[in-house]
Amino acid sequence: MTFILFAGRPAIAQTGNDLLGAPDGMNEPYRPQIHFTPRAHWMNDPNGLVYYKGVYHLFFQYYPGGSNWGPMHWGHATSKDLVHWKHEPVALYPDTLGYIFSGSAVVDKENTSGFGSGGRVPLVAIFTQHDTAREHARRVDVENQSIAYSLDEGKTWTKYAGNPVIKNPGVRDFRDPKVMWYAPTRRWILTLAAQDRIMFFSSPDLKSWKKESDFGVGLGAHGGVWECPDLFAMPVKGFSAKSDSVWVLFVSIGWGGPNGGNGTQYFTGKFDGHTFTENDTAVKWVDHGRDDYAGVTWSNTGNRRIFFGWMVNGAYAGVVPTEVWRSGNTLPRELGIDKVGGRYFLVTKPVKELSILEEGWKSFKDNVKVEAPFELQLLTGSVGSFRVVLSNNAGERAVVGFDKGAGQWYVDRSGSGKVDFHKEFAGRHVASRIGLSKTLSLTLVADVASLELFADDGLTVMSELVFPSKPYDKIEVVSEDGVVMKTLKVTKLKGIW
Ligand code: FRU
Repeated sequence: MTFILFAGRPAIAQTGNDLLGAPDGMNEPYRPQIHFTPRAHWMNDPNGLVYYKGVYHLFFQYYPGGSNWGPMHWGHATSKDLVHWKHEPVALYPDTLGYIFSGSAVVDKENTSGFGSGGRVPLVAIFTQHDTAREHARRVDVENQSIAYSLDEGKTWTKYAGNPVIKNPGVRDFRDPKVMWYAPTRRWILTLAAQDRIMFFSSPDLKSWKKESDFGVGLGAHGGVWECPDLFAMPVKGFSAKSDSVWVLFVSIGWGGPNGGNGTQYFTGKFDGHTFTENDTAVKWVDHGRDDYAGVTWSNTGNRRIFFGWMVNGAYAGVVPTEVWRSGNTLPRELGIDKVGGRYFLVTKPVKELSILEEGWKSFKDNVKVEAPFELQLLTGSVGSFRVVLSNNAGERAVVGFDKGAGQWYVDRSGSGKVDFHKEFAGRHVASRIGLSKTLSLTLVADVASLELFADDGLTVMSELVFPSKPYDKIEVVSEDGVVMKTLKVTKLKGIW
């Protein structure tokens, strides 16, 4: 069975970095149209994700001096709906203690820090300072943790005079603090990546920290140094009792991801304010694609758990063919937990706010024209092999599908367009199926230069960049197994800029 859909998007200009004439300067070749990117220059990890007074704050690793990694600042952007973003001035600059590496931010509602004044609630940012002078002197105590606060809803920040608040104990990689409030002990809990393990610290006031425990030596994937952790509790789908909440610990690893390069694993288990105990020793991945790293979740979002990842792989982030800016984020995604075969798995979906961008949908039989960005939704009547092929008349194609024999979802971008900028970019990437249902569901969100696959209602996620020389203008859904498509629809999405 083959469905063919032709798209009518006019070819985008492929010459130069045309910042002029573009609304807001945000439509150069390969510029994502439904994803956050900085207007210009280098970005990596999302930092300081915090929701306050109706505004989602995104801070991010940023080098305002060029389109490659350099002295790290915290860039800043804000959004009222997680979808449309406003670029804000740089929030944190390097100082004598070092570059501003990754970290988090919290709303200190009870003013435990004492930074609040005149009834103004402090936002407190907790981040790593990376001291290059010590690095060059080959010292081990290069990375220390510092804090800063804002009394004007994130616009301006004051660094704490007593920085650093956690001094390096003699561990070369000692970074990326993620802080949460743990109500039962009335303590802030700080989760830190320390080379080959996670360290937990606690504090009554965000300034004085006590080491609680270590986690992870000999557990999970250790292909590279551990980075950018996150810790949070999640209710299990379908249960409401308190005992059915599961603790989730994210750990990004610099090398040894599920399809090579870096990747983010997660552990499920229990946390009691002092130690984390896992309930599953198998390695589980937040995203099986090549392009989702250092992702963490927003603080202060009530019952929602919303995730943002850095959508590229560190292996080639510095050479992707975008020169004005480098890297964007994944779609904002809402996380849940589901129990499959007696084990807990993350369930990940694009946030519901994405529907703001919908411009109406068509079923395939209408043979409509569609333009990227778009979302394709599909539900099969049985479990069998099928593929979605996106192609253009330059002979470039990206393939997303399910291989029944192997029991795997996959994205094949071998011939997807520009792939030769790095030897690791081209390839077919796979993810073993987690879902057990008798049908297959797929949501594929395609932007100008990315594909995000949410399979089996979000049990398997794959994020992959693609750089077609002209937009894909044809979508085919093919199944040699004769799989029946119960639902097959494409929804056009408006750009956000
Ligand atoms: C992850 C990371 C973090 C670090 C930051 C530096 O991509 O290496 O561990 O804080 O990037 O930019």
